[in-house]
Order: sequence, then structure tokens, then C-alpha cells
Amino acid sequence: MSYTDKRTHVIGVASGKGGVGKTTISVNLALALIAQGKKVALLDADLGLANAQLLLGLNAPFNLSDVIAGKKTVGEVSITSDEGLILIPGASGDAELANINALTAQSLIQSIFAEHSDLDIIVVDAAAGLSESNLTFMRACETRLVVLQDEPASIADAYGLIKLQSKERRMEKLYVLPNRVANQNSGRDLFKKMNGVCMRFLEEPVSYIHAIEEDSVLTLATRKRENIFKNYGHSKSAKNFSALAEALVKSNLE
Ligand SMILES: Nc1ncnc2c1ncn2[C@@H]1O[C@H](COP(=O)(O)OP(=O)(O)O)[C@@H](O)[C@H]1O
Ligand SMILES: [Mg+2]
Repeated sequence: MSYTDKRTHVIGVASGKGGVGKTTISVNLALALIAQGKKVALLDADLGLANAQLLLGLNAPFNLSDVIAGKKTVGEVSITSDEGLILIPGASGDAELANINALTAQSLIQSIFAEHSDLDIIVVDAAAGLSESNLTFMRACETRLVVLQDEPASIADAYGLIKLQSKERRMEKLYVLPNRVANQNSGRDLFKKMNGVCMRFLEEPVSYIHAIEEDSVLTLATRKRENIFKNYGHSKSAKNFSALAEALVKSNLE
């Protein structure tokens, strides 16, 4: 039985520009999905400094570099957090991830499903930008979330990414995900701005699912390696990520 038969799903968290919140969103979305009873793995394909491993307070002896080098299997590098989140730790250098084409992101994802047969969802923390290896990862993700903030560089770079997805005819299950917005209304406004640009220049709309509000709890939880659902269950963040997870499950996984 192939992994698609099990209705498992791959959600890619991408952005045009770095530093807009991909890792924060990947980790907390994965934890929100777990809180909703899903079995989730997080594939760290982002090369940022604050990687998923760090955010989860985990220390992995091996990582994707070892898999790409053929020294370890996906199962051997995977580690599981207290919450039950399976993490496939990121590669340690740019060079390694650039080689991902040889291995192909698709077969990497397939081996994660093969290794963990009861998995419902893989969240991929993708790298920022439009590199070929990044696009390869995006192609392996059925659902893609394009994270952006309300500032010109982030909007322009997010549009660049959406434009490429449009060229590849991959606008289905591609969602704009505003981050660090003041409230849900301003998140929707930012989406509308992006949708207007897409309608004008790509002549097709882009989809919207939810926004993540600016919340100091996120920075605090990161610093203290805490789980927002356990320690700040009533925070804006916990609510936002639960709503995002719920909306994704509803619109894609059922
Ligand atoms: N909604 C938010 N509210 C407050 N701080 C946030 C929010 N989203 C991200 N941040 C902070 O922004 C910084 C960059 O986020 P990060 O997830 O590392 O971005 P990326 O992975 O895209 O490079 C981190 O310090 C993170 O804590
Ligand atoms: Mg990151």
C-alpha cells in the first residue's frame, strides 16, 4: 500500500524571504496537529540558525547530512520528542541540502512514511527562497503554506514563490499564511493584498486559511523550550495554531 492510500499528507512551510517564521510555524503546527490526535513527523529542510531541533529542545546525534551521505537511514536519524513528534533533523550545511536533488525529496519523504507506518502527516520546514533544491521539496508537498509578513520585501518574495508555483500549475492547496499580524482581520487584509496582486499578474487567485498573530509567548516559549499548548494553552498563539491545524485537517485531510 502506498502512503497516499493511507491518506497521509505532506504539508510544506515555505517563504520567499528568511526570518519570517517558518520554523516557529512548522514546529507549532506540528504540535497542534499532535494535540488533535494526529501522528506527525517534522522534516527539517531549513538551514536557518534557530532550527527545529533547537526549538524543540532536542539534541540529535545524527541528521539529514548522514542520510544524504548514505551513512544512516531515515529511521536511524529520527528522534522523538516528549510530545510524540518525530523529528528528522536538518542537514548541517548548505552543500548537503543542495545535493538533495540526487536523492530526491520525494524518495526521502517516502522513506519517512515507510519507516513510520502509522504516520498521518509530515510537516516540512522548507528553506527560504527559490533555489532548485527548495523547489524540489515544494514539489514533494501536497499542501504548501507560504509564510509572509506585512512588509514590502516579504510580500515581494512571497509573490515570487507563488508565481513559480503558478507556473508549475500548483496553485491548488497553496495557501498564503500571514505571520506576526496584529489580529485576524489584518491577516486577512494582507492576504487580500496578495490575492489582488495574483489576480492582476497571474490571473488566478491564491487561497487563504488562517493567520498567525504577533505574540511574545512564541519568543518566550522558544527561549525556554516550552510547548505552547502545555504551558500557554490560552495564549493567542495556541489558539491560532489550533485553528490553523483544524482548518488544514478539515480542508485537506478528510
Ligand atoms: N507570530 C510571531 N510572534 C512573535 N514572534 C515571532 C512570530 N513568528 C516568528 N517569531 C520570531 O521571529 C524570529 C524568526 O522566526 P523563525 O521561525 O526562526 O523564522 P524562519 O524559520 O522563517 O527563519 C524568531 O525569533 C521567532 O521567535
Ligand atoms: Mg527557520
